[in-house]
Amino acid sequence: MRRKFIVGNWKMFKAPRDAAEDYRAFAEESKTLQDKLDLGIAASYTSLPALTDRLQNGVRVYAQNVHWEKEGAFTGEVSVPMLNALRVQGSLVGHSERRQYFGETNVSCGKRVAALLHSNLDAVFCVGETLAEREAGRLQDVLRSQLLEAFAAGDIRHGTYVIGSDPSRPKLTIAYEPVWAIGTGKAATATEAQEAHAFVRSVLCEHFGKEIAGQMRILYGGSVKPNNITSFTKCADIDGALVGGASLKPAEFAELCRNV
Ligand code: PGA
Repeated sequence: MRRKFIVGNWKMFKAPRDAAEDYRAFAEESKTLQDKLDLGIAASYTSLPALTDRLQNGVRVYAQNVHWEKEGAFTGEVSVPMLNALRVQGSLVGHSERRQYFGETNVSCGKRVAALLHSNLDAVFCVGETLAEREAGRLQDVLRSQLLEAFAAGDIRHGTYVIGSDPSRPKLTIAYEPVWAIGTGKAATATEAQEAHAFVRSVLCEHFGKEIAGQMRILYGGSVKPNNITSFTKCADIDGALVGGASLKPAEFAELCRNV
């Protein structure tokens, strides 16, 4: 049985003071859920110390990106040891906004995921098709290459570090986020999402084997709200959600989590 996992993606919102206050408020509102669900917030780098200072309350803290080298001449980047020093749980990788605006590729994503897993941090690796790709019938091709090219680039092959020491909380999570559903208010239907998730799981199965693929969590993302979360989380292959807009207000985000 895979534990449900809900991650809020705060994108480039909230300076440290607001982030810390909203993190505290969300942790308080979601207190009774924390033994049933895994919860996390992905915040901007500048807010991470303020959040991890308050970490004891069970809501995990994630970065939104990370570089694969430990250190070096990479202006503007942040490394895995830097995140580790802040006691961050892990990072998102390959969000479509990173791919679209900052030139992230399947290869660079794979290296970022590998660097996290090697240091025993969590990776929430995002994949998803554009509307043009879906309409051209390329959904499966796109998802397959996003996954397999990244795994090849990062040499990510072994179940042991994909799952880690606690099989109920695998280190690698996939987030399926159709680009056309992100921030548009037009979520995929539960049927569309389940079909894509089942396909993603079949690729994971092909690559890591049935047992590992069966343990890995696949989150849906794209216009998830308190009133549609249940339609997704009741699907067989949907193990939670990556939530943008609806994670920004602590009370709304806690309501969404309660509805899972
Ligand atoms: P959204 O964003 O929930 O606002 O659509 C999701 C995401 O970007 O992860």
